[in-house]
Amino acid sequence: MGPAAGEGGPWLLLALPPLLLLLALLVRQLLKQRRPPGFPPGPAGLPLIGNIHSLAAEQPHVYMRRQSQIHGQIFSLDLGGISAIVLNGYDAVKECLVHQSEIFADRPSLPLFKKLTNMGGLLNSKYGRGWTEHRKLAVNTFRTFGYGQRSFEHKISEESVFFLDAIDTYKGRPFDPKHLITNAVSNITNLIIFGERFTYEDTEFQHMIEIFSENIELAASASVFLYNAFPWIGILPFGKHQQLFKNAAEVYDFLQKLIERVSENRKPQSPRHYIDAYLDEMDCNKNDPESTYSRENLIFSVGELIIAGTETTTNVLRWAVLFMALYPNIQGHVQKEIDLVIGPNRMPALEEKCKMPYTEAVLHEVLRFCNIVPLGIFHATSKDTVVRGYSIPEGTTVITNLYSVHFDEKYWNNPEVFFPERFLDSSGQFVKKDAFIPFSLGKNYSFHRSFS
Ligand code: HEM
Repeated sequence: MGPAAGEGGPWLLLALPPLLLLLALLVRQLLKQRRPPGFPPGPAGLPLIGNIHSLAAEQPHVYMRRQSQIHGQIFSLDLGGISAIVLNGYDAVKECLVHQSEIFADRPSLPLFKKLTNMGGLLNSKYGRGWTEHRKLAVNTFRTFGYGQRSFEHKISEESVFFLDAIDTYKGRPFDPKHLITNAVSNITNLIIFGERFTYEDTEFQHMIEIFSENIELAASASVFLYNAFPWIGILPFGKHQQLFKNAAEVYDFLQKLIERVSENRKPQSPRHYIDAYLDEMDCNKNDPESTYSRENLIFSVGELIIAGTETTTNVLRWAVLFMALYPNIQGHVQKEIDLVIGPNRMPALEEKCKMPYTEAVLHEVLRFCNIVPLGIFHATSKDTVVRGYSIPEGTTVITNLYSVHFDEKYWNNPEVFFPERFLDSSGQFVKKDAFIPFSLGKNYSFHRSFS
């Protein structure tokens, strides 16, 4: 016989509050997933997770370009209750990042970024005082200790010699150049940030870079998108987000110790590198309660500079090596230009760049074709705005599909063909192209613009 009707009463009373809570959370989530009025159209999503599953099914930038052919250059995605718009093609990216540069310069307050950097540091800071102060300091320091100095070119040549010597130790045997390229490339940034390079045998530094790169991959994974949509997932003791947090804590400790070591003999107001310059700014602003300079933001900024500079440039060079192997004909042309302009016995000089249009064109085509940062870094709107008649509320996540710009048929003939000559005019001179934007556009491009 089943229980009498009254016997289920206490259990029902106990189960009711959690059930009601669950229902309330469900309704809240479904409401969050509704497109705001006037928002761009987009692919239909699933209840709760929206379009996150589609990002796991194929490469997100390829999926997004395909969706733009259905829904238009500006379309929307639901990342599990996080409203996002995707900008595809050069015109759409320019309209937002250049014509409305202030509004589109913010970064989204995603739970992952909040947990990792509290929206501080350099790359992920919100648009405001911290954003301006940290970019200005980075641009000035990179000029003072790096690209603005003639002696810096000599230091890059020195690193190239270390790199070539390390290759020679393989005596022509095959090897994976990834680690050597990573070390050599990061040493250029290291000279500016720490005033020193790390040897290719420094396994501690290499380990830090490796787990940092792993975090970049993890941050782009669908399961971490799920964490952003449902941050309570963070209490689960397993999953990719836990690996990401563990790596981030290890990188933080490593950088904290390194920063302490390189600033040991610091003389205030006589900076030798980025760390000293940052600590000087901290001193100058120590009585300002609103100051955004802090030990924590210094550690985040250093980490961001290292990884932003290393991952990207390393991958460009690795792609370039691969393309030279794939296209011996193009390799032959580059080699001919090198032999003609530099010759076999000395290092190249930056001023010779303008005499090497073909090599310049090949490097540009590698950057266009390989799309090192295919979706840029997520932006956000700092105010309500209107683009192409669509209403975009403040705080909307903005994804710049740079891959779609580099394959935009309005600007590139046969974009799917690797063809360096597209960057040359009829007399073989190098020509710039508007729709070449591997470093993105707008206010967040200012850091890279300062290199040139
Ligand atoms: C070929 C190499 C590189 C590529 C393709 C690349 C690409 C990018 C892209 C697409 C962004 C996002 C811009 C945006 O928010 O819209 C970015 C941001 C950034 N990159 Fe690079 N980058 C490269 C090299 C470097 C180097 C060498 C450094 C420094 C050592 C660096 C430091 C940064 C910083 C600090 C930001 C954030 C800028 C900001 O938010 O204002 N990058 N990069």
